[in-house]
Amino acid sequence: MSSQTIKRIGVLTSGGDAPGMNAALRAVVLAADHYGIETIAFRHGYKGLLENDAVPIVAKDVLHILQYSGTIIKSARCQRFKEVDAAKEAAANLDSHAIDALVVIGGDGSFRGADHLANHWQGKVIGVPGTIDNDLYGTDMTIGYATAVNIAMDALDKIRDTADAMDRVFIVEVMGRDAGFIGLGSAMAAGAERMILPELQKEKPLTVAALVKHIQRVQEIRGEGSYVMVLSEHQWPGGAVSLAEQLEAEHHLPCRPCLLGHIQRGGAPAPADRILASELGVHAVELLLAGEHRVMAGKRANERVAVPLTDTWQKKNPLDQNLLRIQHEIFNPVKKNRRTKTDN
Ligand code: ADP
Ligand code: F6P
Repeated sequence: MSSQTIKRIGVLTSGGDAPGMNAALRAVVLAADHYGIETIAFRHGYKGLLENDAVPIVAKDVLHILQYSGTIIKSARCQRFKEVDAAKEAAANLDSHAIDALVVIGGDGSFRGADHLANHWQGKVIGVPGTIDNDLYGTDMTIGYATAVNIAMDALDKIRDTADAMDRVFIVEVMGRDAGFIGLGSAMAAGAERMILPELQKEKPLTVAALVKHIQRVQEIRGEGSYVMVLSEHQWPGGAVSLAEQLEAEHHLPCRPCLLGHIQRGGAPAPADRILASELGVHAVELLLAGEHRVMAGKRANERVAVPLTDTWQKKNPLDQNLLRIQHEIFNPVKKNRRTKTDN
């Protein structure tokens, strides 16, 4: 397809907002403008697409937005969009604006939505990976992940100060419902002693007994001091609060919980997210001009790529096994190693 056949695109942000979504939107609008394409934004994701909440968006509307998290065109979740009738309604709304292609900035759910729409619409769809979870196959990093890890690391550093002062165990709960990237990244960056991540829990769920043994082992090696644990959300019944209570009440370990929650999605996006978003927003428009359809604009091994949308959720990027090994075997071993044997 040549640029002649794409005259107007739609764009929306969908699902959990991610730092850098504004930068991606800006890049889409500026790239479209550069190639002589008009852009219409649908506010509030698929909800707005169904309500035909459409606004033309031009270069001056996206000036100076890349330094802010959130999304100026709003995001939402919309259960009804999963229905066939909803996709048909969305298609009619897109056609009512003579839109040739839709750019969806979001996570795996939003990409499933784009694919669903493509089954009922003749226009082209393309995804830009925007989620703090980093759980999309086909791109090394998603837009928002770098900022979220930075925020979690910053919080862990602060927790360390007070944990160390009081010789306490802390459990810091981070986001990432089904993926441990934020947990592993922040634990590694802040030197946490333990991680409870979805991937590890699936493989071998941690027991309280094993956790207590590890805390005691680390304290035995290091003497007095803190033990900071990173817990991915939904990986412990009752979360960090309940685990902290259990450790304190049943095992007499002074322990405090700390829930980071949506703080991880706000503030100034990290440079890495602003840059990735800028590059992938432009890449998405250029892929559309090259005739691509039903793909995600991604970046892998320093190359721009077009990844089939279905691959982005059907295939999985594994956690970095070397980082896990370093965390578990070298930095915070459960078993005695050579160095500690000589100490005994
Ligand atoms: P994210 O994009 O951050 O993963 P969600 O999983 O909440 O966020 O998905 C965002 C939206 O995408 C949903 O609210 C829904 O409108 C749409 N969506 C998700 N899964 C599907 C699906 N299987 N079919 C159609 N639309 C979907
Ligand atoms: O998918 C992104 C994400 O931030 C997850 O890490 C988290 O579980 C979820 O969204 C939170 O969703 P909500 O903003 O609807 O509470």
